[in-house]
Amino acid sequence: MSYPYQIKTLEGYKKDYETSIKNPDSFWGNIAETFTWKKKWDKVLEWNFKEPSIKWFQGGKLNITENCLDRHLEKNGNTPAIIWESNDPDEHHRVLTYKELHFKVVQFANVLKNNGVKKGDRVCVYMGMIPELAIATLACARIGAIHSVIFGGFSAQAIADRLEDAQAEFIVTCDGAYRAAKDIPLKSVIDDALVGNKTIKRVIVCTRTRTPVSMIKGRDVWWEDEIKKVETLGNPDCPAETMDAEDVLFILYTSGSTGKPKGVVHTTAGYMVWANYTFVNVFQYQQGQVHFCTADIGWITGHSYIVYGPLSAGGTTLLFEGVPTWPDAGRFWDVVDKFKVNILYTAPTAIRSLMGFGLEYLKGKDLSSLKVLGSVGEPINEEAWHWYDKNIGKGNCPIVDTWWQTETGGMMISNMANVTPSKPSFATLPLPGVEPCLVDEAGNELLGNNVSGNLCIKSPWPGIIRTTYGDHERCRQTYFSTYENKYFTGDGCLRDEDGNYRITGRVDDVLNVSGHRIGTAELENAINMHAGVIESAIVGYPHDVKGQGIYAYVIFDETHGDPNLSKQDIIQTVTRIIGAIAKPDKIQFVPGLPKTRSGKIMRRILRKIAEGDVTNLGDTSTLLDPSLVDIIKDGRI
Ligand code: WTA
Repeated sequence: MSYPYQIKTLEGYKKDYETSIKNPDSFWGNIAETFTWKKKWDKVLEWNFKEPSIKWFQGGKLNITENCLDRHLEKNGNTPAIIWESNDPDEHHRVLTYKELHFKVVQFANVLKNNGVKKGDRVCVYMGMIPELAIATLACARIGAIHSVIFGGFSAQAIADRLEDAQAEFIVTCDGAYRAAKDIPLKSVIDDALVGNKTIKRVIVCTRTRTPVSMIKGRDVWWEDEIKKVETLGNPDCPAETMDAEDVLFILYTSGSTGKPKGVVHTTAGYMVWANYTFVNVFQYQQGQVHFCTADIGWITGHSYIVYGPLSAGGTTLLFEGVPTWPDAGRFWDVVDKFKVNILYTAPTAIRSLMGFGLEYLKGKDLSSLKVLGSVGEPINEEAWHWYDKNIGKGNCPIVDTWWQTETGGMMISNMANVTPSKPSFATLPLPGVEPCLVDEAGNELLGNNVSGNLCIKSPWPGIIRTTYGDHERCRQTYFSTYENKYFTGDGCLRDEDGNYRITGRVDDVLNVSGHRIGTAELENAINMHAGVIESAIVGYPHDVKGQGIYAYVIFDETHGDPNLSKQDIIQTVTRIIGAIAKPDKIQFVPGLPKTRSGKIMRRILRKIAEGDVTNLGDTSTLLDPSLVDIIKDGRI
């Protein structure tokens, strides 16, 4: 497959950037022409950020799976679409060619249909990183069902909340998942999530770990049995459902600054074009290359750069079930060596963690196949950048530092491999179609270079969030109301003297822990559910590996027993309510929280104390009880 819209030179980038902003209709129209449509669109773009209402390729009809599968069959049917590497290095890997993947997706799409799934129904997918996860996701898209993939690390309660919000009627899960030396009992977590649930009609369970599971009559069925049922019908096709360009493709929940996670909604055509365009350009993907994105499909990075980006480009995507440090810290390098990986896309947390294990784990690993390295999810510090460059890329591979969000669908600000220059710790320049701007607190746009402010985007790109599921007003308020006529990212950012962007981190109450977004309000709610907790406040602090660590200040009712045991209990509560990813790193019991007279917690002070910067706490005179600050300072962990 060739990509006529793949930019080759810096000049080409500048030219395309300019056209994309001046004339988005013809720019994106030309790119969209290269995809497979059932009917061409009537209008490329119609939008306003006030409601917001954003429509790309209106009137167009298509199915994303025809673009990810069918269109490759004739010329690339025998090309590997998915290479799967197990958690267990001794288990044989699997390769699915485009023909095989197409076959399996069609087959499972028929299973979904047989189980009553219809266009527009919400299907929750809660599975480990096995090919069936990608198959289930694509099968939903095949029949026009809306998938909502939930990361395997979320707890039963977190799943229950998401099922309720999405009004999901179907679940696809596994008996269990392997993760390093552990088996995670996914089906059992689902069973807990379903206590009291009124919407779920069917749970389809795929076998992976053979952990004992309880199958409820009339509700739960085995994936394998259902496949047999469709096999007895011969090998029927499953024609791809005709979808409107703006029909919902998926919902993906993400944390924000309020207590409840938001269901970010992406629609079919714009998301497809954006995932594909950014994949092809940022990584400079060449047909035949092996692309290894180490994210989980439960996050947006996995949606866009394991599934939809690479497959829509006819590429080979590597799906890895395991973790970077098990059985040892050389696991990524074994995988790169074994499959001659050309593009490695990972998170700074993984790089920093592997850095800590030293170079010994690189010995004897042939990394010469690598051509491009990528970073995503959090700011990459210079030390990690240089380590990645020197020891993994051997100084020969450009590192693309890709800034984007669940809400943006795909990469937004990034250098493009061998096309635009990199600058350590800078995401650098906006991709075509992306019009960033920096604003001050009052909403004034900061013009010129060498300025810092809040990062906004001035006009829509094809992959932009369309709504938050079931609550459009929340979408408007969160992203489009802070600054008039702009999409607000929630990130702080600086623009250097050459116009390069450097993301400095969240400016709202969202933490970024190991590249995972965690809302402080959501976490405080979880902690406050513990019977002994009176009140709590969460802040982030710099953490060598995770980027940010979680620091919890808790007012605890001491009559509740041994404080040390209680800390363990609080951690257990968080694991139950959200999941292990949100466990606080430090918990400090405090007699009170520093509040203003109007009752607002002064997080600035708590942040400074957590950071260990206690000499300069700023003005504390507006506090209700300034003496608390010293007590909290003295008790710092
Ligand atoms: C942060 C992940 C600095 C940022 C794709 C953003 C980054 C949040 C970068 C979105 C980067 C992502 N440099 N920060 N290259 N990439 N971020 O929704 O704070 O899980 O707002 O999407 O991660 O996280 P999300």
